[in-house]
Formats: sequence, C-alpha cells, structure tokens
Amino acid sequence: MILEKTIDGVKKQVKEWKAQGLSVGFVPTMGFLHEGHQSLIKRAVEENDKVVVSVFVNPIQFAPSEDLEAYPRDLDADMKLCEETGADMLFNPEVFEMYGDTFTTFVDMTGVTQELCGKSRPTHFKGVCTVVNKLFNIVTPDKAYFGQKDAQQLAVIRRMVRDLNMNLKIVGCPIIREQDGLAKSSRNTYLSAEERKAALVLSKAIFAGQQMVQNGEKDGDKVLRIMTDIIEAEPLARIDYVEMVKWDTIEVCHEINGPILVAIAVYIGKTRLIDNFIYGMEG
Ligand code: PAF
Repeated sequence: MILEKTIDGVKKQVKEWKAQGLSVGFVPTMGFLHEGHQSLIKRAVEENDKVVVSVFVNPIQFAPSEDLEAYPRDLDADMKLCEETGADMLFNPEVFEMYGDTFTTFVDMTGVTQELCGKSRPTHFKGVCTVVNKLFNIVTPDKAYFGQKDAQQLAVIRRMVRDLNMNLKIVGCPIIREQDGLAKSSRNTYLSAEERKAALVLSKAIFAGQQMVQNGEKDGDKVLRIMTDIIEAEPLARIDYVEMVKWDTIEVCHEINGPILVAIAVYIGKTRLIDNFIYGMEG
C-alpha cells in the first residue's frame, strides 16, 4: 500500500491507474479507523480495481468550541487496517497541504444542512462539503463510500454531487454496531466505563423507534415521544435532538408515509453521540 502525503502524488498515481483502465473507489475518513470504516473499505475493495482511503482531520468542520486537538489519531494503526483490508493508497495530507494559507473558497449548502446536526453545528457541513469536494477533485473516484451512521452527511453529500453535477456515484453503507448495540464511532473512545454503559440508551431508543415504525405506527410524534422517554430515563444522557425528517430532503415531518430518517444526537457526559434509522428505503 502506498502512503501519500501530497496532492500531486495522489493525482499522478490515480492518473496512471486510470490510463490502465482501472476503476477507483474512495473512502474519505478522519482516521482512528474502526470496523465501521473497515466495512466501507471492504465494500470499496469489492467494487473497484483500486481503492484510496484518506485520513485527514479536517479543521474547518470543527467549530471553535469543539475540541479539534483532542480528536483521536493513530496513523500507524490506520495504515495497518487499510493495508489488511486491501486498500491501495492511504492519503494523509497535512493541513497546509490541503488549505495553504490563502484558502477562501467554500461549498455552502442550504436546505439539507439546516436541520438535525446543522442546528447544533451550524458551520459543520460547510466544512465537510468543502473538504469532500476538494478530496473528490484530488482523487477523482468512480465511487465514494459513506456510512449511514452519519445519515445527514450522506444525504448532504448525495445532494451536493447531484446539484453540482459531479461525476461519481455515492454509495451508502449500513451502520456497524458493537455487540451490545452501540454504533461504532471514533468518539466512543472518549467514554468512561460508566458513560459507555449509559451510551446504550442511544441504540435502545433507536431499536424501540424502529420496531414501532416496522409494526405500522404512522404517527412520528408518538415514536419520538417513546424514544425521548427512553433517553431521558438515563441520568448521564442529555438530548441534543430526537427528530424525524424526510429522507433525502431532511425536512422535518410528523407522519410516516414515505422514506424517513429518525435521527438522534445525545450527550453522554461531554461526548456527543449520534445514531439513526432509515425507514422505507435503503440508506
Ligand atoms: O465522516 C467523516 O469522517 C468526515 O466528515 C469526512 C467525510 C471524512 C470529511 O472530513
């Protein structure tokens, strides 16, 4: 596997692959890779001749109040996981390589970025869309892989690709969970043993809501009420949001009569965790 630090190096290698008629799959990440990321890389390896994984903790998607420096990093472990999973290149640029010191162009979306995480993290998706756009321009993949764990991010990226006529396919991949139900996340490492137990209220609420909808409940507010009650019963949990939106447009809705996303964000101590389910359509 190639470890590449420069944009020119990635472009040169991908150009060579493409000249040989090889397809390129891409998995953008912020590193500290776990089985969730690994499932994306596996799928990319299955579906493409060559696979590029990027590991870049993108400063512009963190608000000043969010602790960018504390974001967990382990490049050696990431390299090992990528190599073992069959990736061909790991792109790990420095911040300066990506943004220099005169960066002024941003991709700012409306609508799909407004609800859910967009409310509590108003500058987040601008940072995500800008870096993903740059990464797509650097790697020029045929397909890029995103986890349904960040369901709004998946919807936002799909919309950006559609709106800007970008030439690639976005593949959404299912949430990977720990055996006890907790959705895998790099942020789970922030949890103390007590918080780790408390964090199970997220998946408990998600499974309960999903069961109600699968059993035919059409009243979204009822579903959200039950889910909220489950979360509020846990003293270490503090709700950021428990919401239902139309899947793809991310508009708040109350009735289940088309594809919907039910998404939650909950603080367990200081750690903000998210989880969700989609009903009526594959992610
Ligand atoms: O999902 C993530 O890890 C990040 O938001 C992404 C897509 C790699 C952009 O920095």
